[in-house]
Amino acid sequence: MKAVPPGPRGLPILGMLPAIRRDPTGVFMSAARRFGDVAYFKIGPRRGYLITNPADVRHVLQDNARNYHKSPLYNKLRLSLGNGLLTSEDEFWLRQRRIAQPAFHRQRVAALAGVMADSAQDAANQWQTIASRGQPVDIAEEMMRLTRTVVVRALLGADLGPFTDTIDEAWTILNQHIGESFWSLGFFDRFPPSKYRRFQAARAILRGAVDHVINQRRRNPSDHATDLLSMLMSARDEETGETMTDEQLRVEVTTFLLAGQETTSLALTWVWYLLSQHADAQRRLEEEIDTALNGRPPEFNDLVNLPYTRMVIDEAMRLYPPAWGFSRQALADDRLGGFRLPRGWLAFVIPFVLHRLPGYWKDPDAFNPDRFSPEQSADRPEQRRQMPVHRHDDLDTFDRAFDAFWSPTAGSEPSDGLTPDPERAPRPERAAVVGHVDVVSRHPGPAGVVAPGPGDRETRRLGNFTAPSGRRL
Ligand code: HEM
Repeated sequence: MKAVPPGPRGLPILGMLPAIRRDPTGVFMSAARRFGDVAYFKIGPRRGYLITNPADVRHVLQDNARNYHKSPLYNKLRLSLGNGLLTSEDEFWLRQRRIAQPAFHRQRVAALAGVMADSAQDAANQWQTIASRGQPVDIAEEMMRLTRTVVVRALLGADLGPFTDTIDEAWTILNQHIGESFWSLGFFDRFPPSKYRRFQAARAILRGAVDHVINQRRRNPSDHATDLLSMLMSARDEETGETMTDEQLRVEVTTFLLAGQETTSLALTWVWYLLSQHADAQRRLEEEIDTALNGRPPEFNDLVNLPYTRMVIDEAMRLYPPAWGFSRQALADDRLGGFRLPRGWLAFVIPFVLHRLPGYWKDPDAFNPDRFSPEQSADRPEQRRQMPVHRHDDLDTFDRAFDAFWSPTAGSEPSDGLTPDPERAPRPERAAVVGHVDVVSRHPGPAGVVAPGPGDRETRRLGNFTAPSGRRL
């Protein structure tokens, strides 16, 4: 077996850490172009390989998944979320996953579609008012607000009790901390101390809010029988009959709140942006929605009649995957692409790169929803659905939850009047980076970590669209 593969040369001690903090996807993308299937990376104290051959990715995430744990980069997430589905391993993870599983069965998710459609309708009504005044709508902000509303309503009902006013700020601070600390050396996470204390306070507020809702629910169990929290409270491991403790409930609810919001919001924001650049796709999507719904609000069963809508979303997530990268740590020596991966080293899986490999995707940088049509997907069934992220095929129903989260798009049809604000429209290469920063940082990210570089805050607001006065948004 060959020794270590070639890879980008970094600085003596920090390796590629500073470069990744500056331009994460750019660094991984150019390494993939230059070094091929496997590239060696030293990132601060960690060493590992970027893997871009789908066979190696499958090997790490599925075929030999038992030899891998989530990488130490997930410790940063554990600090905010606690030990739950996103951060745990082995028996504990499996137990939590089994208990949570019934809450995500298809009919359970279908029952939440009304909450999503109503939330989308509320948002569309507000945009209508804004549009009738001829003012622009900041789509990035609006999608954040919409998916947050959906996640809170779907998980908890609408009830955040006395915490409603503070929760938004706490949420933002927590997200920021996860984002900024992800690619930093642990020691620096606590600096400046005032900022770290703000993070601790925000974490306490969020925990307090979730505890409050759980306690309320224990007192009045029947009040919110259909939301996810009630389902999680009553859910049992189908094999052992175990339920979750209140502490575990709190960790999982916090995980869903954070993991479910920004991913979906980014995906939808990119959809709006791409539609604004591709009038044909926008028209086709509108026609499909008009035909399927005929002006009424969408329901879960309508999804089957919206194949083009789904293709647009798939294509947007291919180009700008909300979780742009993650990583695993080898428990024992393994072999990747002909090279030995020593125990303790990391495997970096970067969907942003995988989704743009010219060997697997024709004209990879082009927006072309038709590549996800059944005909064109037939010869690459593995790529029809994004990435094989879940480790046990028999526990794969989480993906179904994602379908339902798309419905807000259907409920808030775009008009032909979408115009990106020229002052704030994204430059594709920057926006891509921003997409990752936001995604990785706030969702699972594992590839790590990223502090926003100069200009990121500004370009993050990538979706500011102006609707002509009086037009339907
Ligand atoms: C566009 C939408 C989404 C994308 C792209 C996405 C992406 C991902 C990815 C890549 C992982 C694997 C992370 C890893 O193992 O390293 C993951 C795990 C997870 N996601 Fe999401 N996610 C999305 C939406 C959601 C939503 C809506 C929820 C909850 C309401 C959610 C909850 C979770 C949980 C709990 C896990 C851990 C699952 C486990 O290991 O058992 N995600 N997601």
